Amino acid sequence: MVSKKVNIEKIRTSRRVYGKTHSRYSTDEVPKYEFPEGMMESKVAYQLIHDELNLDGNPDLNLATFVTTWMEPEADRLIMENLHKNFIDHFEYPQVKDIEERIVNIMANLFNVPKENDFVGTSTIGSSEAIMLGLLAHKWNWKQKMKENGKPYDHPNIVFGADTHVSWDKFARYFDVEPRVIPIRKDTYTIAVEDVLKAVDENTIAVGAVLGTTFTGSFDPVTEINDALLDLKRRKGLDIPIHVDAASAGFITPFHEPEFRWDFRLEQVKSINTSGHKFGLVYPGLGWLIFRNEGLLPEDLKFYVNYLGDEMPTYTLNFSEGSSMIVAQYYNIMRLGRKGYTQIVEKMMDNASYLASRLKESKEFSVINNANHIPVVTFRFPKDEPFTLFDLSYRVRERGWIVPAYSLPPDSENTTIMRVVVRENFTRDLVDIFVDDLLNAKKALRGGSVKGSQRSAREGHPVS
Ligand SMILES: Cc1ncc(COP(=O)(O)O)c(C=O)c1O
Repeated sequence: MVSKKVNIEKIRTSRRVYGKTHSRYSTDEVPKYEFPEGMMESKVAYQLIHDELNLDGNPDLNLATFVTTWMEPEADRLIMENLHKNFIDHFEYPQVKDIEERIVNIMANLFNVPKENDFVGTSTIGSSEAIMLGLLAHKWNWKQKMKENGKPYDHPNIVFGADTHVSWDKFARYFDVEPRVIPIRKDTYTIAVEDVLKAVDENTIAVGAVLGTTFTGSFDPVTEINDALLDLKRRKGLDIPIHVDAASAGFITPFHEPEFRWDFRLEQVKSINTSGHKFGLVYPGLGWLIFRNEGLLPEDLKFYVNYLGDEMPTYTLNFSEGSSMIVAQYYNIMRLGRKGYTQIVEKMMDNASYLASRLKESKEFSVINNANHIPVVTFRFPKDEPFTLFDLSYRVRERGWIVPAYSLPPDSENTTIMRVVVRENFTRDLVDIFVDDLLNAKKALRGGSVKGSQRSAREGHPVS
């Protein structure tokens, strides 16, 4: 997070100190924006911070986030037991490294890497780091290829849709690559293969395909993009890799649609990222990056650290990294297996479909994305109202729900939508309560009288 200097006027007019709030323990004032001179009792420090953080939203009611907010107590215990291990210290903590490597293998197999392949991969802080590392390798490989062919290598470009996450734009800017951003289609809210073909050329380091997009949860047409790039390779000799951003779908599609070909079964898919902390069901921050072949990771980008006297290559942006989430990911994989992940994914998908059907049934919302591939439901008002979805978002906050409203990227910027990510602990019962709250909030904004929860009328729905 970029820290900013707090506006001095704001400090003057707001409280600059924690003042005498805990008179049971202390009557001292404590500065908020300067290093305190003295010490304080641990219980006072705890209470001050704990009380302030009560102002944060309740993570379980945060329907905006893809990120896991609940894990089993056994996982919590493993997390606590490993919090003090720096993952990069492989020499000191060889078993965590071993577990990480096992997960890389598990993920590569989950993504159907060809059996004969010498794949390679790494854990990261999240999908953002994984995307940057994946694309950086493609930039390096492109540069090498251009050098070998005696061609200029000072104008690399990357082709991706306006439906990608901001981390793609960050990569382009931070690593000096021209972003060729394709507008999304108004009917699918994703990119179209024809537009990808128009944008690529011999300076294209990679094409991005997102499964599913941050905005609507839709899938870019990855199979068609793969076919089109294969055709281009055959016709013109241009070999452009695809990086699949499966931040969300990486832990959904292998269980929900195992037959769907989106991963290393497609020849041009050379690297894939996913977020362990999204539907991998682990707290933040954990991501995974897998390359189809070891050869795709340039030797230049590897750095070596000592591991039990051996040289161990690393490929990360950050040096230090926590061990706990890697261990927690391993716990989930061992504990749940394919059967458990499938069961949870199917339940989330069911609950998402149920949410979509209740919204449609109410006739107060038009559903845009009916949880087709991942448990995300997006919707808007079917007709103009004297208030906006932003007002509605604000209004349901009164009940604790955090649900975002936003406008879509170009060329659909005139469409404003709301999005709900249906996570494991958003049960069917909570879906009912949420929809009733949403309808009540809409009614209140219209100026109608609001009765208490309409939930009693719907009681009897099984809790899932
Ligand atoms: C499609 C997509 N890519 C990348 C990211 C960034 O992921 P992370 O938060 O794991 O860095 C997100 C986050 O929501 C996402 O939805």
